[in-house]
Amino acid sequence: MSEGIVTVSYIIATILFILALGGLSNQETARRGNWYGIIGMTIALLATVLGVVERHYEILLVALLIGGTIGVFLARRVQMTQMPELVAILHSLVGLAAVAVGFASFMDPDKHFVGIELTIHDIETYVGILIGAVTFSGSLIAFGKLSGRISGKPMTLPGKHFLNLALLLGAIWFGREFVVQSAAGGGLEPLMIMTVIALLFGMHMVLAIGGADMPVVVSMLNSYSGWAASATGFMLGNDLLIVTGALVGSSGAILSYIMCRAMNRKFLSVIAGGFGTGGGTSSGGSTEDQGEVVPIDAHETAALLAGAKEVMIIPGYGMAVAQAQHTVYEITKALRAKKINVRFGIHPVAGRMPGHMNVLLAEAKVPYDIVFEMDEINEDFPKVDVSVVIGANDIVNPSALTDPDSPIAGMPVLECWNGETTIVLKRSMATGYAGVQNPLFFKENTRMLFGDAKETLDEVLKAL
Ligand code: TAP
Repeated sequence: MSEGIVTVSYIIATILFILALGGLSNQETARRGNWYGIIGMTIALLATVLGVVERHYEILLVALLIGGTIGVFLARRVQMTQMPELVAILHSLVGLAAVAVGFASFMDPDKHFVGIELTIHDIETYVGILIGAVTFSGSLIAFGKLSGRISGKPMTLPGKHFLNLALLLGAIWFGREFVVQSAAGGGLEPLMIMTVIALLFGMHMVLAIGGADMPVVVSMLNSYSGWAASATGFMLGNDLLIVTGALVGSSGAILSYIMCRAMNRKFLSVIAGGFGTGGGTSSGGSTEDQGEVVPIDAHETAALLAGAKEVMIIPGYGMAVAQAQHTVYEITKALRAKKINVRFGIHPVAGRMPGHMNVLLAEAKVPYDIVFEMDEINEDFPKVDVSVVIGANDIVNPSALTDPDSPIAGMPVLECWNGETTIVLKRSMATGYAGVQNPLFFKENTRMLFGDAKETLDEVLKAL
C-alpha cells in the first residue's frame, strides 16, 4: 500500500473518530457513533498493517490473534455491572503498551537519531514512559477498587503532598540525567528508575482517592490513557496515533471536568487525593440514633403508585445489579396507561460509570423524553407524589447537603425527600459505594421496600 493511500486512510479514520465522539454525546445518535468508531478503527488497523508494517508479519498475526481472542472473550463474558472495572483494566493496557513501546524505541539498534533530533526523541520516549507507567499502575489500582478487591476507602500516607512533590522532582531530575546519558550512549538506568517512580506515583495517586470520587478518577485515567497513546504516536512517528490519543485525552479531560462539576469538586483537589475521609466524624457514617425505618410491601407500593399523579423513578447501581430495568419499564407502561405522569431522574454519577443508567434504560427501550438529568428535575420534587428509588443510595443522601463532615459533603443529590412519599428499594440497610449511612431511609415520609429490586418490582407489577 502506497504512503499516499495510508495518509488518506488515516485522515478518513480521524474524521470517523471525530464523528464517533460527536455521535456518542447523545443517546439517539450513540449507536451510529459507535459504528463510526468501529469503521474508523478497522480502516486504521488495515492501513497500518498493510501500509506501515514492513516485516515480521507472523509476529503481528500471532499478537492480533491473541489480543483479539482475549478481547472477544472478555466482551462476551463481562456483566454490565463489571463494565467500569473492564474499562479500568483496558486503560492499564494502554499504559503498559506505552511503556513497552518506549523501552523498545529506546533500545532499537536501528535508531538513527543524532544531535537535537536524538534529544527530542529521548524527551518523547521519557514522557511517553512516564505517562504510560502512571496510567498503568493507577488503572490497576482503580480496577482493584472498582471490583472490590481493594478497599474503596482513601489510603493516604503521611505527608502525601510532599511525597508527591518529591516523586515529581525526582522524575524531572532523572529526565535530565537520561537525556545527558543517552547522548553518550547510555541512559537505561535513569529511565528505569523513573519508571519505578512513575509506577509508585500512579498507585499512590489512586489509592488516596475516596470511594465517592472514583468517577473522576475513571475519567481521568481515561484521559491519561489517551495521552499515553498520543505519546506512543510521537515515539513511533505515527500521526494517527497522535491524533487519536489526543482525541481520547481531551475528551477524557472534558469528562473529568463534567464529573467534577456534577460532584461539586475541584479537579486539582480530587487529584491531590484524600477526599472521602470526611475527618471520620460523620454522623452519616453510623446506623445508630437515626430512628426507625418504616417497611412497606409490594401490594402497598402498587397501591401508592396507582393513586399517584406524578411519579419519579430514581435508578441507581442496585438496578444494574438486579437487572431490573425491563420490569421498571413494564411498570412505567402500566402507570402511564392509567394516565399517571412517570419521569426518570438521573444523577450524573449514578451506578459505576458515566451514563450507566442511561444505557440500562435505553436497553429496556424507555423513551428518552421521560428521562431527565438531575438539574432538570430537582426543583420538581415538591410536586411529586411518589418517588421510587431503585437500588440507589449515595445519590439520594441528604447528608451531602447538611453534614459538612460527610465524605460526600457538597455533592449535589436528587432531593426526593421534598416529595410526598419516597419508596426505597434495596436488600438491607447496607451502605452504598461511599460507605455512609443514609438519613433518607429514616425520614417520616420514606418507606423501605426490602428485597432484590427485580424480585420486588416483579411483585409490584403483578399487583398493579
Ligand atoms: P450506591 O450508593 O452504591 O448504592 C447502591 C445501593 O444499591 C446499595 O446501597 C445496595 O443496598 C443497593 N443494591 C445493590 N444490589 C441490589 C439489588 N440486587 N436490589 C436492590 N438493591 C440493591 O449507588 P448509587 O446511589 O447509584 O451511587 C453511585 C455511587 O458510586 C456514588 O458514590 C458514586 O460516586 C460511585 N461511583 C460512581 C461511578 C460513576 S462514573 N457513575 C464510578 C465509580 C463510583 P443493599 O446492599 O442493601 O441492597
